[in-house]
Amino acid sequence: MSQEPIKFAYWVPNVSGGLVVSKIEQRTSWDIDYNRELARIAEKAGFEYALSQIRFTAGYGAEYQHESVAISHALLASTEKLRVIAAILPGPWHPAVLAKQISTISHLTGGRIAVNIVSGWFRSEFTAIGEPLLEHDERYRRSEEFIEVLKGIWTQDDFSYRGDFYRFHNYSLKPKPLQQPRPEIFQGGSSRAARDMASRAADWYFTNGNSLEGIKAEVDDLRAKAAANNHKVKVGVNAFIIARDTEEEARAVLAEILAKADPEAVRAFGHEVRQAGAASPEGEGNWAKSTFEDLVQYNDGFKTNLIGTPQQIAERIVALKAVGVDLILSGFLHFQEEVAYFGEKVLPLVRELETKRTAEKSAA
Ligand SMILES: Cc1cc2nc3c(=O)[nH]c(=O)nc-3n(C[C@H](O)[C@H](O)[C@H](O)COP(=O)(O)O)c2cc1C
Repeated sequence: MSQEPIKFAYWVPNVSGGLVVSKIEQRTSWDIDYNRELARIAEKAGFEYALSQIRFTAGYGAEYQHESVAISHALLASTEKLRVIAAILPGPWHPAVLAKQISTISHLTGGRIAVNIVSGWFRSEFTAIGEPLLEHDERYRRSEEFIEVLKGIWTQDDFSYRGDFYRFHNYSLKPKPLQQPRPEIFQGGSSRAARDMASRAADWYFTNGNSLEGIKAEVDDLRAKAAANNHKVKVGVNAFIIARDTEEEARAVLAEILAKADPEAVRAFGHEVRQAGAASPEGEGNWAKSTFEDLVQYNDGFKTNLIGTPQQIAERIVALKAVGVDLILSGFLHFQEEVAYFGEKVLPLVRELETKRTAEKSAA
């Protein structure tokens, strides 16, 4: 278990419709003014990171989508401490373009930008923009080259690389990003290929929501592989958080989200992700085992079960930390109000429990 305090990130709602495929009333908005205010609330509340999403089309709701690098910069410009992680799809992005964009943003914002390399799953989206969707493990092979190249460009002069997807010849990026040695690199995806890649190349493995046992199995597999590669990788887990003063209230909100789920949109999303879930050779990628109810939250966030009172949620967060989780990636129904509530009511309890656990350990 890490000795460091567990970290918190929130999903930037830069895509319309919030994070649940439900017709429940949501005060969350995808627009820029809402997002700027949310970012300020979040950094005040104790959130260290915000994660933007990249989506080019809709297909199951999510009708409007702001682009991830541009909105990440806007949020950094509106805040002082928050680090913002821009979601990037190799394919649409060339690594030379991205390395330069991120370096400039790093200089504009005091080195607070990071990237989340996502490998792609949404076939209709790729078709719509005329981008070939590679076979599952090939997507990860390309992503790994993408990450190797980013690291090379950001840290070396006269960088040369001969891969199957990318070539560089004596390339020197100037200026390099402010961060030393370079901006952090996250990866999003949960299949065996995702873990193989993260255990060699990424600084962070971001995964969908799951039960405590499911998360433990992923973390154990990832850490064993990383140790064999002499690589260190941290873990972030998605959770849709519903914190209310009583457990009944929290459960009632979940029940209402599910009761008002938009069956057509959930089915359309389910159709897309079932292909994606079955796409990896083992058929165990994200969403491979998701039920209708799980799919109402885009990234299986109900499964993590951070739903209840502040005390219940804090205890479950500390239990996740005990199995090796370093960061909770959180989604909320009404983002601004609930991020503030989380900072006020849940986070102090997490810190108390962490201190207690550390004291118990050193006494033992
Ligand atoms: C935390 C997290 C964030 C993600 N963000 C995006 C995103 O913004 N855009 C996108 O197209 N896919 C996103 N994905 C999807 C993954 O990149 C990946 O394509 C998907 O999980 C299927 O891969 P798998 O078979 O390895 O699980 C995200 C996944 C996770 C876990």
